[in-house]
Amino acid sequence: TMINHMLGNITLSIIKPDAVQKGYVIPILYKIVHAGFHIIAIKMIKLSKKSATNFYTEHKKKLFFESLVNFMSSGPIISLILEKKNAVKDFRILIGETNPIHAKKGTIRNLYATSLKENAIHGSDSNKNAIKECSFYFSNKEIFFKKICN
Ligand code: TYD
Ligand code: MG
Repeated sequence: TMINHMLGNITLSIIKPDAVQKGYVIPILYKIVHAGFHIIAIKMIKLSKKSATNFYTEHKKKLFFESLVNFMSSGPIISLILEKKNAVKDFRILIGETNPIHAKKGTIRNLYATSLKENAIHGSDSNKNAIKECSFYFSNKEIFFKKICN
């Protein structure tokens, strides 16, 4: 399939409820596009507790799981598929460390996150998870691939 063919060149991002609520969608999208990522899918949705639980299933044994699920289903989010060479790695650099206290100056979490929980943005952590997470939010018809030009 087309999405599997994009392995290594796409990542899934979420602008989280805190950042949407505070009006940071446009500034965050500007930074993402300015950094060379192409938005090839985008939608605004509100996750149910059940969908948030399914999306973060790998964390279900963690102490923070319930608070994470409650937070992620607390308000609307923006889901995005981003295309770029080395998308997963480069996007993790752009967003910064999970805990904004440790996020480098100028990263999205440094600029817009307020706590370890309310940390503004999600980025896939591996190419394999990127494909899985993209398919969680988007059908093939909702994804508009660009040609990768080096
Ligand atoms: P994780 O996948 O470790 O971080 P990242 O988003 O950088 O890949 O954790 C998922 C989310 O869970 C994280 O963005 C914020 C939340 N979280 C907490 O609320 N408390 C914690 O101690 C950790 C590690 C994460
Ligand atoms: Mg993660």
